[in-house]
Amino acid sequence: MLALHFLALALALWGAPGAGALDNGLSLTPTMGWLHWERFLCNVDCKEEPDSCVSEQLFMQMADLMVSDGWKDAGYQYLCIDDCWMAHTRDVKGNLQADPQRFPGGIRRLANYVHSKGLKLGIYADVGRKTCEGYPGSLGHYDADAKTFADWEVDLLKFDGCYCDSLKHLADGYKQMSLALNRTGRSIVYSCEWPLYMWPFHQPNYTEIRQYCNHWRNFGDISDSWQSVKNILDWSASYQDTIVDVAGPGGWNDPDMLVIGNFGLSWDQQVTQMALWAIMAAPLLMSNDLRHISPQAKALLQDKDVIAINQDPLGKQGYRLRKQGDIEVWERPLASLSWAVAIRNLKELGGPSSYTVSLASLGRAVACNPACVITQLLPVKEELGFFEWVSVLKTRINPTGTVLLQLKKPTVS
Ligand code: GLA
Repeated sequence: MLALHFLALALALWGAPGAGALDNGLSLTPTMGWLHWERFLCNVDCKEEPDSCVSEQLFMQMADLMVSDGWKDAGYQYLCIDDCWMAHTRDVKGNLQADPQRFPGGIRRLANYVHSKGLKLGIYADVGRKTCEGYPGSLGHYDADAKTFADWEVDLLKFDGCYCDSLKHLADGYKQMSLALNRTGRSIVYSCEWPLYMWPFHQPNYTEIRQYCNHWRNFGDISDSWQSVKNILDWSASYQDTIVDVAGPGGWNDPDMLVIGNFGLSWDQQVTQMALWAIMAAPLLMSNDLRHISPQAKALLQDKDVIAINQDPLGKQGYRLRKQGDIEVWERPLASLSWAVAIRNLKELGGPSSYTVSLASLGRAVACNPACVITQLLPVKEELGFFEWVSVLKTRINPTGTVLLQLKKPTVS
């Protein structure tokens, strides 16, 4: 009994929710939603391309689909606007304003619409003089802009780092906006790109960043290609000693948007992105067109078992356990002494590879000690059954694909 108490205490401390995190009570599990950037970029030509320009119509259509097509029920709650929503100048009072042609109802009315669907609205601004696409930046306006967003009843701010003149301005700006958002009294998730813009100069202080941001981008922008997803995974593994331990309830590393459902990834590569974003406890912000998405991509993005791993309440980020030739094994500790394990096949040649894993080598040697029950979640769900600690598991993984497993303690009857 006493031993159990100690175990419970140790686990509670190990996974202490929100330790050192931005104290706004938000993103206790990674944020889930939709973000326009990768798929719709800065398309402002509503005359030529009325269906894919950045406009209130696009966001209202996505809001409708998020509810009618099961996205909201699957957990995708935040509908997020990226760059290029603004007018090129501030209004006469110096406040940010939406482009009047593309957002005739203004952001406040869009927020009302999104809220009426039970969703939340995200918006975008920049710490420097201009946004990356040249729209007005928030430098010198942090309090006013935070107040504008709160008045519009916005629920998330993605704060970019372009056009910032010095590292000091970058750090001060990110901190000031965090405090300004807090002072509004509205619950606004704060999504930062602070470390991404710091890395070229020196290693970011992640403990500090966690105190101000709910999630933070570390690495360059994702694009709709396998090379891009591979680069992000390689970076995340190379820097895991620096970034993994800092993640937890209230603050997460953000490897950027899910591009599943677009044009650039094969089925196996989409499986890899979904599996590894779950292992990495990454925000799940899809950037795709919910009006045109294959049933297969939709099922993958809405896979409740994989989402449950991503949203696991222990809130520990996973890591690459080993790389052996063309195979990588990643693992993530979960609540209730369970583990998620992802086995990636890096090969881009030939057919599926076989890989045999010794169960004693997984989950810090405790995942299957003395035994475990294993379920394969991806690429297809399959109960693999009961395994002893000394046993091995044989897998077969498609080139560029991933097998995602969940290892649970057997239930004592
Ligand atoms: C930067 C960000 C992207 C996107 C664009 C918008 O590149 O990293 O995610 O927000 O700006 O201009």
